[in-house]
Amino acid sequence: MGGCFSKPKPELHCSQAQPRRHRCTLSICPPDPHVEVKIEVVLPEKERAKEEMSPNGKASPLVYKVNGTARHYHLEEHPITINPYQNVKDVVEASVCHVKDLENGQMREVDLGCGKALLIKENGDYYAMGHKCPHYGAPLVKGVLSKGRVRCPWHGACFSIGTGDIEDFPGLDSLPKFQVKIEKEKVYIRASKQALLTQRRTKVMAKCISLSNYNISSTNVLIIGAGAAGLVCAETLRQEGFSDRIVMCTMDRHLPYDRPKLSKSMDSHLDQITLRPKEFFRTNDIEVLTETQVAAVDIKNKIAVFKDGFKMDYNKLLIATGNTPKALSCKGKEVENVFNIRTPEDANRVVKLASSKNAVIVGASFLGMEVAAYLTEKAHSVSVVELEEVPFKKFFGEKVGQALMKMFENNRVKFYMQTEVSELREQEGKLKEVVLKSGKVLRADVCVIGIGASPATGFLKQSGINIDSKGFIVVNKMMQTNIPGVFAAGDAVTFPLALRNNKKVNIPHWQMAHMHGRIAALNMLAHGTEISTVPYLWTAVFGKSLRYAGHGEGFDDVVFQGDLDELKFVAFYTKNEEVIAVASMNYDPIVSKVAEVMASGRAIRKRDVETGDMSWLTGKGS
Ligand SMILES: Cc1cc2nc3c(=O)[nH]c(=O)nc-3n(C[C@H](O)[C@H](O)[C@H](O)COP(=O)(O)OP(=O)(O)OC[C@H]3O[C@@H](n4cnc5c(N)ncnc54)[C@H](O)[C@@H]3O)c2cc1C
Ligand code: FES
Repeated sequence: MGGCFSKPKPELHCSQAQPRRHRCTLSICPPDPHVEVKIEVVLPEKERAKEEMSPNGKASPLVYKVNGTARHYHLEEHPITINPYQNVKDVVEASVCHVKDLENGQMREVDLGCGKALLIKENGDYYAMGHKCPHYGAPLVKGVLSKGRVRCPWHGACFSIGTGDIEDFPGLDSLPKFQVKIEKEKVYIRASKQALLTQRRTKVMAKCISLSNYNISSTNVLIIGAGAAGLVCAETLRQEGFSDRIVMCTMDRHLPYDRPKLSKSMDSHLDQITLRPKEFFRTNDIEVLTETQVAAVDIKNKIAVFKDGFKMDYNKLLIATGNTPKALSCKGKEVENVFNIRTPEDANRVVKLASSKNAVIVGASFLGMEVAAYLTEKAHSVSVVELEEVPFKKFFGEKVGQALMKMFENNRVKFYMQTEVSELREQEGKLKEVVLKSGKVLRADVCVIGIGASPATGFLKQSGINIDSKGFIVVNKMMQTNIPGVFAAGDAVTFPLALRNNKKVNIPHWQMAHMHGRIAALNMLAHGTEISTVPYLWTAVFGKSLRYAGHGEGFDDVVFQGDLDELKFVAFYTKNEEVIAVASMNYDPIVSKVAEVMASGRAIRKRDVETGDMSWLTGKGS
């Protein structure tokens, strides 16, 4: 065993206010004094308000001038403050409308005097809750109300109208829930100051009184990976009342952050994209070991072996290690200023290097296209190199790909299609040119590689955990691997997707990682919960969002409505006469509507969408 955890030195960050000082900071005392493992220090909780200021809310929309044209950041990437209530009294009571103002199945934003609420009528009952999605602040009134829940129009998060609880993702928090009363045909909403001003978790996080002895080399739950899946797993365990020790480790230098922002708001500071502040981990007694790599898992003895030789026992294990971006294998691949975008530092550095210089992006899928779009604001030139003939071809199909390509070309992006990189040339160690197999030589000061990724599961090879031929961890509907007590979640797994007849799929997206983390946590606690979700994802370029729900792998046709050239369309992906996925641009909330139909288990037939008659969306179709 290469080292041991020791109690922290008292002079380290633990404040007087800490109720459980020995749990907040840990350092390694290895046999080798040069080895040091950094462990996130969790400080005492600051004022409530600070936590409620979402990091997402800190950045204000920016306006750029490119060639004289004013451009705006897309609102979705720079949302407003999550908590929109101001000057709140202890109790707020407001008459908000007449009972006749709202039909069954309708939602309405109403004014409470100190801010707004979402008022809902379903099956004759009224419900009131927060009106903005806690993820990026979408107005939920523009979302979809369906059988006891509201689905967000932007990225598909779902909230129970009965409790305000988040039921599907993305996002970590629930909505505040308010009381409704009817008096003399008028609807009143009553809300306490606490309900208005407190960011709601799904349930109250359990008080964190550890049952375990102070044994620092063992933990009850070890979570390898502090991405979306790992974080949601840890939070869910606490929400469900699990009070024993949780340790989460990550190779990253940082606490969990909003990874999708790295390619959409590339110069965001870390504190703008951090998902939870340090205080959160402290308060909820979730230990985060940063810059820590697990090198092997011994399932027989339930031990994780760290790269430096340190070992940690666990009772339950979650593997949520995500994936590793693929690198180029061509000549010159080691030159400076060639990046995969995995960390805020990568993203910030690319923006800096690209400023008024030449940027080359290799790969025209999500990451590459988002980076290309972002850099057009900054760089002298942006070129995209891609093997296929149109961007996003595999995912969105040829026609959507062509329409998007045109938008990029109109924004000064140059495409080099059906070719690949043969060499990266340097000058004084730094990238100077990208040479293509077609013979073309591109001037390049910075290059971003977005050619895919492979599951970060190499360290499990000898473990006995079932890994498929592509390296994905195979799990069942409860996120369990073949080894009892070992769960896996997120980008690194294949799991049975009910929507596609339980086909084993890998869905490397933000919403799914959240859902996996939640299901894994519930099943660690023996809830016996099977995953039931509709995959939902989005990409954002030039201030426009492309939304997508379902799982379109293997689609054989695409049915369009709207105008593709105007980028105002919905595309239905079909296979064997059935709609298996939907994408849209400027057509909200169609994707959320379709996601709700899919979630209800109702099949959508190709002929339903071909006619243009959308009555099937409400279940009233033929
Ligand atoms: C730039 C970018 C933009 C994206 N944009 C979108 C988007 O717009 N929409 C969308 O739906 N999805 C998007 N994604 C995908 C999304 O971020 C992932 O699906 C999601 O992060 C997966 O979560 P995860 O928890 O499985 O893994 P990750 O978030 O990748 O986290 C993996 C964690 O495991 C740790 N780890 C790995 N190996 C080890 C080890 N051996 N020991 C210890 N720790 C380890 C890592 O350090 C990290 O903490 C984007 C991804 C990137 C990179
Ligand atoms: S803003 Fe609601 S899910 Fe993103």
